[in-house]
Amino acid sequence: MDGVELIAPHGGQLIERTGASEESAPPAVSVQLNERQQCDLEMIAVGAMSPLEGFMGEADYNSVCDEMKLSDGTAWPIPITCAVDASTADRVETGSRIALHDGNDRLLGYLTVSEKYKQDKAKQATKAYGTDDIAHPGVKGLMEEGDVCLAGKIDVVTARHDPMFVDHRLTPLSTRAEFQRRGWKTIAAFQTRNPIHRAHEYLTKCAQEITDGLLIHPLMGATKDGDIPAEVRMKCYEVIIEKYYHPDHTLLSIMPAAMRYAGPREAVLHAILRQNYGCSHFIVGRDHAGVGSYYGTYDAQRIFETLPDGGLKIQLLNFEHAAWSKSAGGMVSGKTFPKIEGDQIFLSGTKVRELLQKGERPPVEFTRPEIADILIDSMKGS
Ligand code: ADX
Repeated sequence: MDGVELIAPHGGQLIERTGASEESAPPAVSVQLNERQQCDLEMIAVGAMSPLEGFMGEADYNSVCDEMKLSDGTAWPIPITCAVDASTADRVETGSRIALHDGNDRLLGYLTVSEKYKQDKAKQATKAYGTDDIAHPGVKGLMEEGDVCLAGKIDVVTARHDPMFVDHRLTPLSTRAEFQRRGWKTIAAFQTRNPIHRAHEYLTKCAQEITDGLLIHPLMGATKDGDIPAEVRMKCYEVIIEKYYHPDHTLLSIMPAAMRYAGPREAVLHAILRQNYGCSHFIVGRDHAGVGSYYGTYDAQRIFETLPDGGLKIQLLNFEHAAWSKSAGGMVSGKTFPKIEGDQIFLSGTKVRELLQKGERPPVEFTRPEIADILIDSMKGS
């Protein structure tokens, strides 16, 4: 159904930066990207970060930190940078072309350096992450990277060597083509970095009731230690979709972005990315993209009200904290059933991990047994 018109990409146009060829005369300088930068490179290259065409310059960096917009006024919440240490930066001439390599020194592509500038890490931490606490995993990554940002357009030869889940690694052009093929006009995107538990399932199914289709879109780029590994999560997604979702209204594809744990600002980034993938709606629940207790439960929903004019086209589907209620005999939120002391089944992440490590399934009201079994299996010997 080619006639179905999908939401416009952020900034109006999908911009891919792939398809470059390896150059016969390699540039004099090459830079090895860290895991987060490699994820960003792929996201820019496939058009998921449209309208970005490369790594941000200083004017965008400052305006994103201070005002949540690019210097041309387009909403953007978090700097996307290629930071290197000062000695590497010294070897790079502004105006030159440098090669970008992965951790195994394989060529990814090229950066035409339009500018280099010293980044203001303290400002980025407090503005984008809301904290300068080094214990915050996103802030820690920021503080550990280089001080000088290399900005400019990228030309990507191979966005990722040995990519995982190639059958489920659709680019924005491919998800858009798939939505059109299925005749979906309204699509709800679900961001997650976890296996799908019953609250996630509730959110996604509520969303399915009011849209043509659901894109289960797990983030599969760099995550922090302690998060569940990508292969294990993938198994969980495949199994739960097969057993508990309607195939005609559900699509699974991964998003190769890195997790920043930046809470509200990252929720905005996640929404922009999903708009680029062609989704009309975006699910934001409690403490979206949060970590520890850095953010308020619904800060990631409220931040959208503060975006610059003309913000995003994608519509939010905000959800309150959901859990199984024993009295109601089903999933509820603060909006659908009154709170009764001790009524809701709530388990902390630590408690769930303890159970799984002992080989015990959490209650079925919390996790589907098939998912619990995959997780128990994955923890054997760990
Ligand atoms: S996140 O880092 O990707 O946000 P997670 O995978 O836990 O973490 O959450 C995915 C989405 O589900 C987010 O929008 C989050 O706010 C939402 N969510 C997770 N658990 C609940 C819950 N119990 N009630 C409401 N929303 C939830």
